[in-house]
Amino acid sequence: MPLPTPEEEKQAFHKLVNIESYPEFLPRANEIARAYLANVDYTQDELHTPGAAAPGTASRSLSFRLHILPCFSDEDIEVMKDFGLDLSDVNQVAARSRQILGRLKGTTGAIMPPADHDGPWPEEWIRTFERWINEGHAP
Ligand code: HEM
Repeated sequence: MPLPTPEEEKQAFHKLVNIESYPEFLPRANEIARAYLANVDYTQDELHTPGAAAPGTASRSLSFRLHILPCFSDEDIEVMKDFGLDLSDVNQVAARSRQILGRLKGTTGAIMPPADHDGPWPEEWIRTFERWINEGHAP
């Protein structure tokens, strides 16, 4: 399906933005739209590569302050202090990160946070926590 010539494209654009005045142009507009779509080269656009993230996002490393702390509610932090764990303290969370991960997954004891306290976390949050550990738990 051939693309319109530059001259035809100019006229087509005018008719399209004033389509109420050129209803007979609609079938041709459809043809041209299909021609454009058939000719798109998606490989030239990294945002359209299937499964690709925006440039730089996958390699960005995670930090406690920006990506982990906001997952803990004020209540989580207050309650867990009574059990000897300050979730707002990066050093304590880092030191017990594997145990905490086990609790977030519910594999090493009762799942945390409990269901009556807005738990469990969505899976993406848990994967993020795990990635934060594996990247060296930056503050
Ligand atoms: C080292 C990991 C953890 C341990 C050993 C632990 C242990 C406990 C224990 C023994 C309780 C009281 C009994 C119970 O309700 O089951 C509790 C309660 C609670 N924990 Fe944890 N926890 C851990 C991590 C976390 C994390 C990461 C969060 C939040 C993201 C959290 C949020 C809560 C909350 C909201 C309660 C309130 C229970 C209530 O008042 O009914 N905990 N935790």
